[in-house]
Amino acid sequence: MNTKFVNLRLQSLPFVIISLVPLLCFCLDTDTLTSNITFRDSDTIISGRHVFKLGFFSPANNTNRYLAVFYDVSEETAVWIANRDRPLNDSSGTITFSTNGNLVLTNGRNETLWSTNATGISPRNTSAQIQDNGNFVLRDTSTESIIWESFAYPSNSFLPTMRLIDNIYTRHKVVITAWTNGSNPEPGRWTSGLEALNVHQIFIWNNSRPHWRSGPWNGMILSGVPDMYSPYLAAFSLSNDTTDTFYFTPHETTFLMRITLNTTGNLVQTMWNIQQRNWDITFVAVENECDFYQTCGPFGSCDIRDSPICSCIRGFEPVNREEWESGNWTSGCARRRQLQCTLTNNTSENGDGFLRLPFTKVPDFAEQFPSREPNVCRTRCMSNCSCIAYAHDPYIGCMSWSEPLVDFQRFNGVGIDLFLRLEASELDNHSDRLLVVIIPVVVGFAAISFVIIITWFWNKRKDIKFLEAESAIIFKDETEKVNVEELPLFSFETLSKSTYQFHENYLLGRGGFGLVYKGYLKNGKVIAVKRLSAASGQGNEEFLNEVAVISKLQHRNLVRLIGCCVEGEERMLIYEYMPKKSLEGYLFDPNHQSQKILDWKKRFYIIESIGRGLLYLHMDSRLKIIHRDLKPSNVLLDEDWNPKISDFGMARIFGGNEGFGNTSRVVGTYGYMAPEYAMDGRFSEESDVYSFGVLMLEIISGKKNTNYYNHELSLSLLGCAWKFWNEDSGLDFVDQTIDCSNFEGQIVRCVHIALLCVQEFPNDRPSIQTVLSMLSREIIDLPMPGQPIFAEKWNRSHVGTGTTQRSSQIGYPYSNDLTITELDGR
Ligand SMILES: *[C@@H]1O[C@H](CO)[C@@H](O)[C@H](O)[C@H]1NC(C)=O
Ligand SMILES: *[C@@H]1O[C@H](CO)[C@@H](O)[C@H](O)[C@H]1NC(C)=O
Ligand SMILES: *[C@@H]1O[C@H](CO)[C@@H](O)[C@H](O)[C@H]1NC(C)=O
Ligand SMILES: *[C@@H]1O[C@H](CO)[C@@H](O)[C@H](O)[C@H]1NC(C)=O
Ligand SMILES: *[C@@H]1O[C@H](CO)[C@@H](O)[C@H](O)[C@H]1NC(C)=O
Ligand SMILES: *[C@@H]1O[C@H](CO)[C@@H](O)[C@H](O)[C@H]1NC(C)=O
Repeated sequence: MNTKFVNLRLQSLPFVIISLVPLLCFCLDTDTLTSNITFRDSDTIISGRHVFKLGFFSPANNTNRYLAVFYDVSEETAVWIANRDRPLNDSSGTITFSTNGNLVLTNGRNETLWSTNATGISPRNTSAQIQDNGNFVLRDTSTESIIWESFAYPSNSFLPTMRLIDNIYTRHKVVITAWTNGSNPEPGRWTSGLEALNVHQIFIWNNSRPHWRSGPWNGMILSGVPDMYSPYLAAFSLSNDTTDTFYFTPHETTFLMRITLNTTGNLVQTMWNIQQRNWDITFVAVENECDFYQTCGPFGSCDIRDSPICSCIRGFEPVNREEWESGNWTSGCARRRQLQCTLTNNTSENGDGFLRLPFTKVPDFAEQFPSREPNVCRTRCMSNCSCIAYAHDPYIGCMSWSEPLVDFQRFNGVGIDLFLRLEASELDNHSDRLLVVIIPVVVGFAAISFVIIITWFWNKRKDIKFLEAESAIIFKDETEKVNVEELPLFSFETLSKSTYQFHENYLLGRGGFGLVYKGYLKNGKVIAVKRLSAASGQGNEEFLNEVAVISKLQHRNLVRLIGCCVEGEERMLIYEYMPKKSLEGYLFDPNHQSQKILDWKKRFYIIESIGRGLLYLHMDSRLKIIHRDLKPSNVLLDEDWNPKISDFGMARIFGGNEGFGNTSRVVGTYGYMAPEYAMDGRFSEESDVYSFGVLMLEIISGKKNTNYYNHELSLSLLGCAWKFWNEDSGLDFVDQTIDCSNFEGQIVRCVHIALLCVQEFPNDRPSIQTVLSMLSREIIDLPMPGQPIFAEKWNRSHVGTGTTQRSSQIGYPYSNDLTITELDGR
């Protein structure tokens, strides 16, 4: 863009000369303003890596000028505005440093329109910088400390590493505020922020009245946002540094991402699409009518699959039936039979009991009590007459309600179970009552299985012998010294040149840890450069040591690490280039004609080779490495179709010893994660074997576990494998493009071995060494596998038919607990 601009000017030489002087000044080739620079309307400064810039702009249909921060890629997105409510009506705006060191925006009449207004700073000793995360900061140059930052005064956009703040003592909040309308950035009536009193939730307010509520933060996701149950959005954290102040933050990402509160009061997350050069909407907070706060009134239950969407919770009836039936649900519902406030065992004649309502967005106004045991919640609620409902979540602990239940929603296969206190006779099994199976429709396998694991695992956890928490990688020989000097170090300049300044045309892909570029070295060698997105938190020396150790791992089924680069904040890893890219493309991409390329022989070879690579990581190398994220996109192929595991040292480089509980950073991908890892963060060789099993089933079937759902059979990929294998029709499971003849026995055996790998209990799974022996038939007789945990889903056609019949032949071990509930006749 800059070059275009310069070229244009060169066409008429006189103009160049005239404009050369201002051009030199405009070319604020810096990210920092200092007191000797006067910043005018036509100037911009750009952050170090050209992510954000600061400059003046005019919104659509508005000629006023505003000082703003933009993403460099798209100027229409002002993520922060200084003078939102005091626009400039011409281009006379200037930024200068005042005598007390503050940054001041003045107009042509020397009136102050905006100022950083920080107090207690020393004169002339400040500079202002636009950072790569979009934060515009004012620094005391003598101490380098930040004395003012734009992130503390957000506009309508919420960016990675920015923090929504709530101080529950002073009630000071940092919120985002929508524009008044599309052409007027003045603060409008919509705000969004964190409410940390009791449970922690995100709200959208309309003139301070709740409009939308996220449901409680459960340590990983906002539990009332169904979309978050899929892995892609598990990207936030909530933290506190004092007992009073809480912060909600989107993690740093390799994507350009922003969450904007738009002028109609919706939170919209968008990501920059490099190919199409536009913003893709990836998440919307208010999606349907049930998402409006309190749509159904007190004790009403909203379910978007129903018509009408509102119904009274069981045991309740409309306060005003006429109004209710006409679709005005505001007055809500009232209890049919008063509580006795003596508790019995749910079924006897007197007293109260609890009704389980699965898959919900729990009501607002939860009170919290930390406890790991669901039974504690029940007992506490039971013993206090003002407690009308409770719920339990492993991270939050007990939640209980004593206020009328408002803003309650039923979801489809995701959410928290609510236990509602009812007078005992309301719980009895009347013969006229409809027993209906509530069915999770499959949005994505990951979404549902996650909750199933939570619910199920929590109930079952007592039965399971956990492995001791283990660090990702253990030196087998601690004394072995690594000589860092042997490691080839590349300079930033070399790598930048080799990838044409990390040009997007050379982007090979994005991994969990950063972007990968194709690069050409001067000697003609082709390399893959992984530019790590976040600092690993390690010092340079530790990082280098780490990389040196990992670069020593050599196996034909591991991608080779050639060297690395550490300069300033930059950390890059250099790998050998894999021309055929990842296995994922060949397995699942219909355009790849995989049937021609990946015949059974190749697939079997790939399975065996990945197994060997994994064996090397687990046992044969001098480190023990648990990969933790084994999946087709992490398996690369060389010219000769040799698979090579990639990203195997990443857990270590990124501080793999970090526990799950206090970071909320999920390493791994749902669908490939073993239940004990997804749930409790316990990883081990056995959890890698689980991922390997899933990978095998994907290679055999050509279907992606996280996307696949067999509607006819109501089964997930693992469920299908289990069913077909059990019915001696294992070949029906195989990718139809494979010619099975002559290999029937081997293919069915592979399905069998894979099923052994994906068993629920880690101790039941074979080691990777055993798996390889089974594959090579050194071990002939295979044990019987247990049923995988995510075998079955319910068939939607049973909703509302009043039948309790189950949809499938295969036993589902936890069905009664999880999916049967009662519905009021409507
Ligand atoms: C603008 O006003 C400030 C104080 O309000 C004064 O110090 C400064 O000299 C003025 N600048 C111009 C160009 O008039
Ligand atoms: C936006 O709001 C401003 C001030 O409230 C008003 O003058 C203007 O007409 C509005 N523009 C549109 C397009 O609604
Ligand atoms: C918040 O921080 C304080 C002090 O660091 C800590 O004691 C407390 O447990 C934290 N959590 C909550 C929920 O207050
Ligand atoms: C706000 O976002 C929602 C969801 O994407 C969209 O339907 C609505 O039109 C947006 N409002 C405006 C004013 O763009
Ligand atoms: C719905 O009912 C409430 C309470 O009776 C009443 O105040 C409100 O005006 C009604 N709303 C509509 C749209 O009729
Ligand atoms: C019962 O619950 C209410 C509401 O949470 C609380 O205010 C009260 O102190 C509790 N009573 C007892 C005896 O715990």
